[in-house]
Amino acid sequence: MFYWVKMIQMFHVSKQFGHNSALVDINFRIHKGEFVFVTGPSGAGKTTLLRLIFGVERPSSGNILVNGIYLNRVKRQRLDLLRRDIGFVFQDFKLLPTKTVFQNVAIALEVTGTRRSIIKKKTRQVLRQVGLHKKGDFFPLQLSGGEQQRVAIARAIVKNPTILLADEPTGNLDSDLTKDIFARFIKINEGGTTVIVATHNKEILNAYRRQTIFLDHGKIV
Ligand SMILES: Nc1ncnc2c1ncn2[C@@H]1O[C@H](COP(=O)(O)OP(=O)(O)OP(=O)(O)O)[C@@H](O)[C@H]1O
Ligand SMILES: [Mg+2]
Repeated sequence: MFYWVKMIQMFHVSKQFGHNSALVDINFRIHKGEFVFVTGPSGAGKTTLLRLIFGVERPSSGNILVNGIYLNRVKRQRLDLLRRDIGFVFQDFKLLPTKTVFQNVAIALEVTGTRRSIIKKKTRQVLRQVGLHKKGDFFPLQLSGGEQQRVAIARAIVKNPTILLADEPTGNLDSDLTKDIFARFIKINEGGTTVIVATHNKEILNAYRRQTIFLDHGKIV
């Protein structure tokens, strides 16, 4: 496979919601295996940028290349397949309230047709990694905000994605847990996964110092 096949690139991407411009003429390239931060004030367009890469939002203009595929040419069905290769830690978690912690994580593997025994093993393993191995039978509403966030992280990383998109993934965690989670992300990145983390936390940006995309009012600054 050629090196460019696995990169993420935006070409003159803009996104409008009605009259509101969330992103304006965005251009960048992220190579496979890089660890990149996206930062900027609230409302700058960080979540929108990640959602465009994930293919759940479509650009108003411009084009996006993800894993060798130009998203504007892709049918919905193909986008679903593409998404299986991407882990997304949602800013608002998006856990299924009627499913247990274990089921919320296992579902990421079930959709890929993984064998039952392997799903069990991997789900247990990843719940241990985020410190939730004792809470597998709990429901999301029985968890603290930080615990829910760690379930969202576990669900995103359990399938060993080629791309990990994490939207303010430690916003609800204390500094020790934040360190744990970032150590985990760095390990995943060292395994070849491209990692993109959106955060407005300056301490994190200073502590980890990676390539950073700064957004302000939808523009790269
Ligand atoms: N579904 C939507 N409908 C209308 N406007 C939207 C929608 N999603 C985002 N926006 C607008 O796009 C702009 C960028 O929002 P976005 O969520 O990307 O910001 P953000 O940088 O992630 O902010 P935060 O740090 O608060 O999470 C905001 O002005 C927001 O109101
Ligand atoms: Mg956001």
